[in-house]
Amino acid sequence: MPSSLCWRLVTADPVVPAALTRLAHPEPRQRELAAAELGDLLRGNALKARAAETVIAGLVDLVLRDHDPVVTEEALHAIGEGLPHRDPPSQLVMPLVQRMPSLAPNLLEHVFGILACTRDRAVRPVIKSYSDHAVPAVRDAAADALTELPPTTLLHLDSSAERSTSRSRAITAAFASAFRAAAPGNVVVHRDLHADPLPHLPDASLHWAQGLRQADASPDQAAEDLQRRLVAELLSADVLLIGFPLYNYSLPSSLKAWLDHIHVPGTTAPSAISGAPLAGRPAVLVTTRGGDYDDGSVNEGRDHATPVLELILGEEMGMAVTVITTSLTLGTQPEQVDRSENEYTDALRLARDLGARLGRAR
Ligand SMILES: Cc1cc2nc3c(=O)[nH]c(=O)nc-3n(C[C@H](O)[C@H](O)[C@H](O)COP(=O)(O)O)c2cc1C
Repeated sequence: MPSSLCWRLVTADPVVPAALTRLAHPEPRQRELAAAELGDLLRGNALKARAAETVIAGLVDLVLRDHDPVVTEEALHAIGEGLPHRDPPSQLVMPLVQRMPSLAPNLLEHVFGILACTRDRAVRPVIKSYSDHAVPAVRDAAADALTELPPTTLLHLDSSAERSTSRSRAITAAFASAFRAAAPGNVVVHRDLHADPLPHLPDASLHWAQGLRQADASPDQAAEDLQRRLVAELLSADVLLIGFPLYNYSLPSSLKAWLDHIHVPGTTAPSAISGAPLAGRPAVLVTTRGGDYDDGSVNEGRDHATPVLELILGEEMGMAVTVITTSLTLGTQPEQVDRSENEYTDALRLARDLGARLGRAR
């Protein structure tokens, strides 16, 4: 490490409290200078992570309460210049969103850059809402910032054991193709759980995030790596799409194996040690059933597949679940065949519409 950098690491931290205090100085010029000084410290990469976060939080707070345009611009400039050197947690800068409606166009451009730096897909709808702003420079800056974010991604799962005539596969394919076509750069990640089956969860300790496991837990490393990949695939998807037939009144076992891997309290499901990372994200369930499960029918209440997914993805993880159902796919009576065909046609149309809408909206 060059000796000048060592000097800065030792001496820079004590400067921080003084400059942070001056952010509340009654003179705007003093606040501006303090913001510039903190920006220099962030830019110079001389601060330890904790100190840098304190500085960024102080500058964000200044933007929220200070309505002097020069001070605000200096503070936003300081945050924006400092962020690329770090991997900022998005919660640190998300409060800026509430100040956006009252910011001048040139300052909005700074905020877009700051939000894009987080690379958090949660900021996409915020930036996107400025895509039709009256000022062309704001629209252009929003478009540039959107290109910095990861591409909008659909995780598409299929689980039917039928390859060529499967209705659930046809409906999910219609959704995925509409999603892909909805906006340039949209990405579809397809996982065929039947053709490429996952193992059963080999160790009960994998049901829990590391911090929640028993002290003597020692799951197999390869199993843990597979689970990490599956969870990462889910967390990096903006939209989840699952196609599944009703098999023996329940989920196909290939889908159940996936669910057992990704339902992890403390990682994907909320717990005391985690937030709710999937809350609000769309999950579209496409289900097909041979029989009729109408109220009053002999099968009423016997579909034990969709309720499980609604419970885990919706109630527990907080995802926004939509269900597309077609029934009576094994019907033989003319009226059953008619109804089945109509439901299938409706399901295909609904899937195309929803795929296009969710592909545009993210
Ligand atoms: C192993 C197996 C079990 C099934 N169990 C049921 C069932 O419990 N209830 C039902 O209504 N249909 C059942 N079916 C019929 C399927 O749900 C129906 O054919 C569905 O349309 C298949 O979905 P797909 O068209 O996407 O392949 C079963 C089919 C298979 C192959």
